[in-house]
Amino acid sequence: MSSQTETALPAAAAELPPYSHELPWPAHLAPFKVVDDGSQGDPYEHYAWMRENAPVLRAQSPVSDVWFISRYADVRKAMRAPKIFSSEVVKPVPLNFLTIIDAPDHARLRQVVAKAFTPKAINLFEDLVRANAHRSLDRLIANGGGDVVEEFAIPLSISTIGALLDVRAEDFEKMKFWSDETFSYFGRLARNAPGTATDEQSTLELFEYLKENMERLHLEGNESIGGHIARMWKEGTLTEKEAKELCAFVFVAGHDTTTILLANTFLTYSEQPHLLDRIRRNPADAVKFAEELARFRGTIQRASRVTTEDVEVAGTVIPQGAIVRLLPGAQPGQREVPGR
Ligand code: HEM
Repeated sequence: MSSQTETALPAAAAELPPYSHELPWPAHLAPFKVVDDGSQGDPYEHYAWMRENAPVLRAQSPVSDVWFISRYADVRKAMRAPKIFSSEVVKPVPLNFLTIIDAPDHARLRQVVAKAFTPKAINLFEDLVRANAHRSLDRLIANGGGDVVEEFAIPLSISTIGALLDVRAEDFEKMKFWSDETFSYFGRLARNAPGTATDEQSTLELFEYLKENMERLHLEGNESIGGHIARMWKEGTLTEKEAKELCAFVFVAGHDTTTILLANTFLTYSEQPHLLDRIRRNPADAVKFAEELARFRGTIQRASRVTTEDVEVAGTVIPQGAIVRLLPGAQPGQREVPGR
């Protein structure tokens, strides 16, 4: 057994649990599905029922069964047991995206990313991010309001990640398109998501663009995170493929997550205006608010894994080779909001 936290069992011992659609869900909740058809847009009631009644839930999909794990302790244990819950859901690993790579490559590439996020590299663009945030907000206020996702969350997120990699501001719109397409391509490879007809081509274009950007950053001796990754490529620590795919991963990983968190900020303020009043009175509480929001209404709802051996979780045996989705957003607390 490769973990202290999970129990590995002999293969023959496993009896498969009923599917999600065979379970006695309350009348107002459609059975939880692998691909949301709209009934799970606000999944917290589903999660609460799952934690109580089916903490390991097996759902059917045309490609394969998918096993959902919803209890905090079980999600935490699985995230800490990478030998049993492998991130390598596609083999051979098609892209150098950290979330689908196990040790030892994961540790090596993770170190490269961690080294690039130096205080110096972050300080370089902090003022710029603040100025961009003020500019978008001032415009919204001057217009008497607007769409906070389109006019604040997306531009702020793109310009921040763009600054991190020191991408030219005039290319942000193109980057947004490529980033969405790359996310779609990644979902198609790693999660059997439908993708788009152009996502692979767009991803290759993004990689080519990032390569050219790194050539420029290297010539400039640039100190941004993109500049660090470029230097590691030119010094031979990373291959060209690794360097450009790492840049793309940082872009994609950092863009949607922060856009959604910013959007959720406004949603939460609109539901609980007293929180906004409190932050106005005590601006330092904004930091606590952001931390709590990441837990309360998190932007990563599912993390994909594949089991390398039979493993028991919450009394259910998940077989070797099973596709698993950990639900880090399923933790208790979300439904305690008044009015939800
Ligand atoms: C609200 C913002 C964010 C949230 C909630 C978030 C959440 C997560 C989660 C849950 C994972 C682990 C996924 C898994 O284990 O399968 C992850 C991985 C990662 N994220 Fe984020 N993220 C956010 C923003 C960012 C930003 C801004 C960046 C970079 C600019 C970033 C870079 C990464 C990297 C490099 C990894 C891979 C780490 C590793 O595998 O060791 N993330 N993120």
